[in-house]
Amino acid sequence: MNYLSLAIQIIIMLLFLVFAVFFLVQFYNIVFRGYAPFISSKKKVIKKIIEKLDLKEDGVIYELGCGNAGFLRAAREKFPRAKLIGFEYCFLPYLIAQIQNSLSKSKIIIEKKDIFKVDLSGADVLYCYLNLLTMKKLEDKIKQEGKQGLKIISYQFPLPGIEAKEVLEDGKDKIYFYSL
Ligand SMILES: C[S@@+](CC[C@H](N)C(=O)[O-])C[C@H]1O[C@@H](n2cnc3c(N)ncnc32)[C@H](O)[C@@H]1O
Repeated sequence: MNYLSLAIQIIIMLLFLVFAVFFLVQFYNIVFRGYAPFISSKKKVIKKIIEKLDLKEDGVIYELGCGNAGFLRAAREKFPRAKLIGFEYCFLPYLIAQIQNSLSKSKIIIEKKDIFKVDLSGADVLYCYLNLLTMKKLEDKIKQEGKQGLKIISYQFPLPGIEAKEVLEDGKDKIYFYSL
């Protein structure tokens, strides 16, 4: 066996290990902690939201559970001076977001952090694509920390105790718009 094939085997094993750890962590968090899995928002949904979204020039958008931060990269094109921050607890989507971020030079901040440890008071807009349980838990935090006028946009999963200002429906897609 030459050094090249040994190196390839080691790289394949390392990649396998990274994916195995990712799936184990996701499985544990989804099944035992009720966390949302890593699934990206559809491009057409993101486009629709960004088209509707209004933000002051230096406004602040948080994507809670940002995955690969596709929403924030799309927002960057419309809001070049806004502060865009994504929060993601899971290492693999966090790494993918960081790589895509540097390739696109979109100057988005990605923090590896649980969204329940994030102070929401600095945000003008929150974007969420999570799950029902997380939205339910997030609701009290949003009520306590969210500033007056905070806009919350949630794809597919409503905040159960806050009345949506608007709901956009397109087939199975639902986008909920809220304002404090
Ligand atoms: C359905 S995906 C949405 C990803 C991205 N926001 C999008 O719309 O394309 C949900 C993401 O939230 C992350 N997530 C779930 N619970 C979280 C938590 N408590 N703190 C941080 N991230 C979380 C998951 O790892 C996953 O990447």
